[in-house]
Formats: sequence, C-alpha cells, structure tokens
Amino acid sequence: MDTVRHGGKVAIVTGAGSGIGRATALRLAREGARVIGCDVNPEALSETSKLFDQANLDGEFVTADVTNQEDVDRLVAAAGPRVDILANVAGIMDHFTPLGDLDDSTWNSVMDINVNGVMRLTRAVLSRMLSLGGGAIVTVASEASLGAGAAGVAYTTSKHAVVGLVRSVAFYYGPKNIRSNAVLPGGVATNIGATSTPSVPWAFERAQAKMATMSQTPAEPDQIAAVISWLACDEASNVNGALVTSDGGWSAA
Ligand SMILES: NC(=O)c1ccc[n+]([C@@H]2O[C@H](COP(=O)([O-])OP(=O)(O)OC[C@H]3O[C@@H](n4cnc5c(N)ncnc54)[C@H](O)[C@@H]3O)[C@@H](O)[C@H]2O)c1
Repeated sequence: MDTVRHGGKVAIVTGAGSGIGRATALRLAREGARVIGCDVNPEALSETSKLFDQANLDGEFVTADVTNQEDVDRLVAAAGPRVDILANVAGIMDHFTPLGDLDDSTWNSVMDINVNGVMRLTRAVLSRMLSLGGGAIVTVASEASLGAGAAGVAYTTSKHAVVGLVRSVAFYYGPKNIRSNAVLPGGVATNIGATSTPSVPWAFERAQAKMATMSQTPAEPDQIAAVISWLACDEASNVNGALVTSDGGWSAA
C-alpha cells in the first residue's frame, strides 16, 4: 500500500463505525492521512478506534449525527483548519417499500441521513477547502442512483438526489480546485442489511428479480474504500463530477 498517497492530508470520514466507512477510514490512514472519523453509534466507533490503535494509525473519533448541524460543526472543528478530503459514507437503507405503502417517518429519516447529511457535511468543509486552495469530496451513492430495483422509493430517491448534489458541487467548485465525485457500489457485505427488513412482499419479490442479475457475491468494503481513496488522490486530478460504479458489472446487466 502507498503510505504517502495521502501523506500530510486531513480526511473526514462519516459512517466510520462500520462497513464501507470503517474500511475507508482505515485505508486513508494507512495511506498517510490523519483521519477524523464520525458515526452516530459510539460503540461501533470505539471498535474502529481500537483498530486504529492496534495499527498505530493517526485517527480521532467524534460521535456525531450527520443530520444535526451542531454535531456537524463539532466534527469539522475537530479536524482543525485543514480539511483535504471528505468521504460522505454514512447512510441507511429503507425496507424496499413502494410509494403506496410508504410512511412519512421512513421517508424523512432516509432523506435526512442520505441527502441532508451529505449536504450539511459538504457545505461545512467547503470554506476550509477554499482557503486551502482545493480538496476532494467523495460521496457514496449506490446502484440505486441509476435505477429503481435495488431498494424502495425512499432510498432510491435519496441516492438519485445525492448525485445532483455531487454534480452541483463539481460544477460550481471544480474551477476552484475542489473535486466532487460519487462511488456507486452494488451489493457490499456490511451491516446495512440489518436495517432493511422487506415490508411489502410483492414489491420485494420484484426487487429480487433485479438482485438476481447481480453477477457476483457481495463485494468487500475494502473494494469500495479502494475506489474512494483513488478518487480522493491526486492521480484523479482530472476526475470531477463522475459517477464511478463499483458493482462487479451489475449496472451493465
Ligand atoms: N452495503 C451495500 O450493499 C451498499 C450498496 C450501495 C451503497 N451503500 C452505501 O454505502 C454507505 C455505507 O453503508 P454500509 O453498507 O457501510 O452500511 P453500514 O450500516 O455497515 O454502515 C453505515 C454507518 O453509518 C452510520 N450512520 C447511520 N446514520 C448516521 C448518522 N445520522 N450520522 C452518522 N453516522 C450514521 C451507522 O451507524 C453505520 O455505522 C451508505 O451510504 C449506503 O447507502 C451500501
């Protein structure tokens, strides 16, 4: 592993207590970054912190809810004046619920975490990146950013919306040397499935037909972290506003 790829950089990683966020925090730190990891779950975050200690990596961990502006401000303050990289990873699934059966609370929480959380964090780091002369933002979107069969209406809408945010930031801030890109994973072996019990049998049956077109077993979180690290590094200096699939070819089916 290239220990200087992110040498001297400061990276904020949300959702660092589990899955793709934890893998990303560890990867960026192994590649030289000082990582400020956040998660709403303090126990999960402390497990990540232990992994950092065991590997002698540079990390600081802040229990924070990305939907709460005060938490976001506290998180960014913990990073100090310099933020080179933001990895927006925190997110939740829905219950494969189609619109007719959707309740407001599912819609609101999925939109709040998957869209508003990304907006708040991204907005909060922009001024630091502008004063630094640049930065790289990588947001985890999804196969559900491209079509409807990977989730319910709330998750699919949230992951389509976040693509708009990623591209808007790329468009307006690209000339100021801030790059904004999205990674679109297919199935990844993480804890997210625990929050996505199917709610409507006929709708889940239909979604399973789409799942059946997946060409491989779920990816490992490290495979997604590798793409996030590359998008955040200088080798990707000409990549801005891109939607990069990492789905074993699922979206090509
Ligand atoms: N696992 C997959 O198959 C898959 C596929 C496509 C996209 N994704 C996306 O990848 C991202 C990471 O998910 P994962 O699969 O690693 O799931 P995960 O459940 O393993 O990890 C998500 C982490 O985000 C944290 N989190 C949730 N709400 C939060 C909040 N309000 N503030 C701060 N932290 C919060 C959780 O506590 C958890 O530790 C999500 O955005 C998800 O939509 C996952």
